[in-house]
Amino acid sequence: MPLIDESTIPAEAKSLVSEIGSTPDKSIPLLQEMQRRYGYIPEKLVEAVAKEIGMPLAELYGVATFYSQFRFTPVGKYLIRVCKGTACHVAGTEMLYSVISDELNVDEGETTEDMLFTLTSVACLGCCSLAPVVMINDTVYGKLTTAKIKKILNGYRNEKG
Ligand code: FES
Repeated sequence: MPLIDESTIPAEAKSLVSEIGSTPDKSIPLLQEMQRRYGYIPEKLVEAVAKEIGMPLAELYGVATFYSQFRFTPVGKYLIRVCKGTACHVAGTEMLYSVISDELNVDEGETTEDMLFTLTSVACLGCCSLAPVVMINDTVYGKLTTAKIKKILNGYRNEKG
């Protein structure tokens, strides 16, 4: 996930608003799109978008902080979502989570020092037949074992350049 370049914020706010819309009912889609682009909600971008749509900043922040789906700190290049839904839990996702946490030396919501990985757990990802499932950015990995997840993490590590 790219870190936002502050010099592009006004243009980025305009692009978001022209793509999504500027009416009050668009506040959640706007926030979702910010998070999709950057992996988190950059504070300065919320300010610029609030200005752009003529909404008090406190109001837009109020919406953002109400929903737990929104994150306010930057995430690593690779966002790891470990499914902790029932099917994945039964299939051993806790073990996968511990392996990832140990391998990367991070706990829930934390990012590795090199800003490569952020570890989170989520509820059902909607592909239970593949349990246990881990999603890394937009890629779903199913029927995982601890050996497979280690291999996958190494693949991402080697790709970092
Ligand atoms: S419980 Fe993990 S994908 Fe449904």
